[in-house]
Amino acid sequence: MTTHRITVLPGDGIGPEVIREAVACLELIGRERQHDFVFETHPMGGAGFEASGDPLPDSTLAACMASSAVLLGAVGGPSWDKLPAHQRPESGLLRLRKALGCYANLRPVAIFEALVDSSPLKSHIVRGTDLLIVRELAGGLYYGHPRSLDADRGVNTMAYSAPEVERVTRVAFEAARQRRKLVTSVDKANVLEASRLWRATVDRVAADYPDVKVEHQYVDSAAMLLVTNPTHFDVVLTENLFGDILSDEAAVLGGSLGFLPSASLGGPVGLYEPVHGSAPSLAGQDVANPIGAIASAALLLRHSLKLEAEASLLEQAITEVLGEGYGTPDLKGASRTVGTAELGDRIRERCYQLCWHGTMPELVVGP
Ligand code: NAD
Ligand code: IPM
Ligand code: MN
Repeated sequence: MTTHRITVLPGDGIGPEVIREAVACLELIGRERQHDFVFETHPMGGAGFEASGDPLPDSTLAACMASSAVLLGAVGGPSWDKLPAHQRPESGLLRLRKALGCYANLRPVAIFEALVDSSPLKSHIVRGTDLLIVRELAGGLYYGHPRSLDADRGVNTMAYSAPEVERVTRVAFEAARQRRKLVTSVDKANVLEASRLWRATVDRVAADYPDVKVEHQYVDSAAMLLVTNPTHFDVVLTENLFGDILSDEAAVLGGSLGFLPSASLGGPVGLYEPVHGSAPSLAGQDVANPIGAIASAALLLRHSLKLEAEASLLEQAITEVLGEGYGTPDLKGASRTVGTAELGDRIRERCYQLCWHGTMPELVVGP
């Protein structure tokens, strides 16, 4: 039996609560489907800083590099906001992404029919949305130089090289081939040189994918179309900061940021994390939506462990449990509001049923 080593970085705020549910799902799937998953938990973000003075301790990074995949909760929080830049939890996350070579961040956005009324948008607008944001993750403003801050000036630089654009563009086109064969590349080429290079590179790569349609949109107009005509989109390809912003915007389509999972790929080790942050005001109250984290675990099964059947099973369990009306308090359309742990329990019970068409014996769920 192959041993799959999964490094778990719960992080801060609601991170540990949602990751607990995701890891329990992986444990169940490993047990029932006879896979050897070995979990190793390490401090990261604010927790890393508290443990060692570094948001990405050397031992955490070494464990990540030596593993089959990394599952991360979220990092950050008010206690660490005043620290110097290199000690902030977020800078540890950026170093981790870079060290793992993750340049393509896949953020799928699908609407659960049962929760179509959770969205603040009208149901006829969001119904049927099924898009994939491919966010460039290793370049752009997040990593550009020069970069500096003094008393009266702050500098960041958006820079892209053609190879950086090309590699993430290929990921987007390959993904589109498996989907509805439309890539919408989002940039600001009417103003930014980095975006003009982006657009030219996307067009050059597009020639290798004649079966995939490509279109270009400016980011300001794309932000508007995302909430007025979301079903238009299939694969949305964009640079780092635009992708960060558009993905939180896309979260309103499904009704909660708590839903969205992500997979960061391109290097030797994949990194999986929900799109949301550490939501400090929700921490420790058993109210955080664990689905972004659990669905990220499904992406881990699919992309890093190549266990497609198990990934689909976990996604089906999520869909069915939501279909029965269960949801955390952020899901306004849920008819049965439950806590983080109970929602996780119900998803695991459904996984077990889907595995064996039975009921999981050791699990007693709900009130
Ligand atoms: P956030 O994503 O933590 O929260 C935004 C809003 O969404 C809040 O109202 C929050 O309550 C809600 N929310 C988020 N996740 C939820 C969930 N699972 N269930 C229910 N509701 C949820 O963003 P923020 O408040 O801007 O940032 C808080 C901290 O998180 C900051 O320190 C920020 O840097 C950090 N952050 C980390 C990551 C990451 O680790 N990948 C991502 C985004 C933000
Ligand atoms: C995300 C987050 C991160 C980002 C922060 C915490 C560094 O917002 O994963 O979306 O901007 O990439
Ligand atoms: Mn973000």
